[in-house]
Formats: sequence, structure tokens, C-alpha cells
Amino acid sequence: MHLACLPRFPLTTLPTPLQRARNLEAAVGPDAPRIYLKRDDLTGLAFGGNKARKLEYLVGDALASGATVLVTEGAAQSNHARMTAAAARLAGLKALLILDARHGAEIAGNLLLDHLLGAEVRIVPGAAERAALMARIGDELRAAGERPYVIPTGGSVPLGAAAYVAMVAEMTLQLLALGEAPRRLYFASSSQGTQAGLVVGASAFSAPYGVRGVAVERPVDALKAECARLANETAQLLGIDASFTAGKIALDDRHVGAGYGVPTEEGLAAIRLLARTEAVFLDPVYSGKAMAGMLADIRAGEIAPDEAVVFLHTGGGPSLFAFGTDLLESGDGIDA
Ligand SMILES: Cc1ncc(COP(=O)(O)O)c(C=O)c1O
Repeated sequence: MHLACLPRFPLTTLPTPLQRARNLEAAVGPDAPRIYLKRDDLTGLAFGGNKARKLEYLVGDALASGATVLVTEGAAQSNHARMTAAAARLAGLKALLILDARHGAEIAGNLLLDHLLGAEVRIVPGAAERAALMARIGDELRAAGERPYVIPTGGSVPLGAAAYVAMVAEMTLQLLALGEAPRRLYFASSSQGTQAGLVVGASAFSAPYGVRGVAVERPVDALKAECARLANETAQLLGIDASFTAGKIALDDRHVGAGYGVPTEEGLAAIRLLARTEAVFLDPVYSGKAMAGMLADIRAGEIAPDEAVVFLHTGGGPSLFAFGTDLLESGDGIDA
């Protein structure tokens, strides 16, 4: 494996904690399994999250290629965009963020942080305009004398996914120290870089757990195909002799709700539950929906009380501050 040989610019404080969530277990009830939280919301870069790990390799590559500006895209509340802007600052690069306003573009949460970090932010109305601008931005920047390094949505290319192969190695040691062999690893899955890396890592390090993504968008068949493709390219990059097919990718789309970026009642309830049991903050777009998915499986008896599960907390907390109204209006209200 060539993981250690990849160019890497340090951005994270690792390992992130792997914590038992005993208050959450008590709230779930007597049939709860042992629940662990892998705290990738604490990766250490600008409010943390999974993208910090990916960006270490992507920024390493950008610097090696002589880039002057990182360019990426996403929704206005993109965690990936916020962390790209932060990574650029640390690496002495500029950041250009192309964000679409489909789910709102209030200057709050991540978008506020993008501005604080001094990134150049271009807001476009929708997906088509975003794709069109991404297609021409390289030429525009080169004409202005810059050397752009373009990071696709979510940093989900083999170099980014490789970071989650490394995370499996990190967590393997933590589980060994705890004497735990969890049944499943749950997490929010979107542009597939995280899931592809986890799938490759779980195979390479003989993980005891099934890698179980909880989708935050559709269509799930296309996402599974993308995950398998990315996993195969990541394995190839790292010299790992393994291959993956879409049929073997576990991605649960029952908790997406109305679509990407639209909060669900069960996701908002999961946010409140984690805050009130573990003082851990999830978010409405990703980790809240993923936690709702894990809790639904536990309540359906899919994990036995004598087993363990891990929830990989991929971050996203800053977007909470752009969803205050949804949280206030949902369930028992924010003050209950
Ligand atoms: C908080 C959070 N969780 C999970 C994900 C999903 O990661 P991936 O895009 O690698 O599937 C993202 C992606 O933006 C995210 O911001």
C-alpha cells in the first residue's frame, strides 16, 4: 500500500476520539447495543468534519503541482467548501467557492465562515449554473495568471477517499485497545468519497463491521455505482488488490426525506437527542439523518443488545446555525 507515500499537508489533529455513548444507550432503552461515537467532528480544522482528512491529501497534491488557488463547489451551506477555504488559508493558497442557492444562501453557518476566512464566494442560482461556471472557471483563472487546483464536490476523488482508508487503520487500533468488534459502522454518505474510502479500508484491514452509509440524497443506485467506481480507483491508487461492485455497497436511502438539504422530523429529533444525552451536535443535512438511520435500525432490532455499533460523526455542526427556524418549529421545539 502506498498510503504513507502520498503527499500530505497537515491540517488535522488525529486520532479523533472513539467514545462510548452511555447516556444515548440509556435513552434508547434496555435493548440498546454498546454505541460508540467516532468523533470526526473533532478533526481539528475550522470546526472539524470529515473533509479535513480528505483535504490533507488534496492540498498536499495541490502544493506539489504548484497551485495558487483551490477551487471547489457545493451548496451554500457546504461544509466541504468551508473547510477548503480554511485549508487554503493554512497552505498559503487562495480559495474560490462556487456555491448554489437552491437550499438558501443566508449569510449564516458555513457561508458566514467562508466569508470570515476571506474566500472568494460566487453564489449561483442552481445546479445548471454551478456546473457551467465550474466548467469555465479554470480558463478564467488561468487567464488571470493563477494556477487553479479544482476539487470536485466533496473532495470525492481517489486521493480524498484515501484519507478514509487511513481512518480505518486509525480506528482499528482504537477498537483493538477497547477489545471491541462492532457489527456495523454508520455514517452520512453523499458524494461517496467517505464511503469508498471506508469500504476499501474495511477490506484492506479486515474490519469486523459492515460499512453502512445512510444516504442524504437520491438516486441510491447511481450513488452505489459511483461508490464502487471510486473504491476501485482508490484501491488501485494505493496498490490494494481488491475490487468492489455496486451490489455490495450498503447505502440506506430510507432517511433522505424530501431530498438533499431538506431537514426531516426524525433527523431533527436525532439532533435534539444527541445534544441532550451526549452534548454532541449533529446537523440537519448529514449527521442528523445518519443518526436517525442508525437509531431506526437499532429500534428495529437489527443490532443485538450484546453487540456494538460505531457512529462516525462526520461533522456539519456549523450549518445548525442556518437551520434555527426548522429546529424551533419541529417536534417539541428547541426549548423543551
Ligand atoms: C457533515 C458531512 N457529513 C457527511 C458528508 C458526506 O461525505 P461524502 O461526500 O464523502 O459522502 C459530508 C459531505 O459534504 C458532510 O459535510
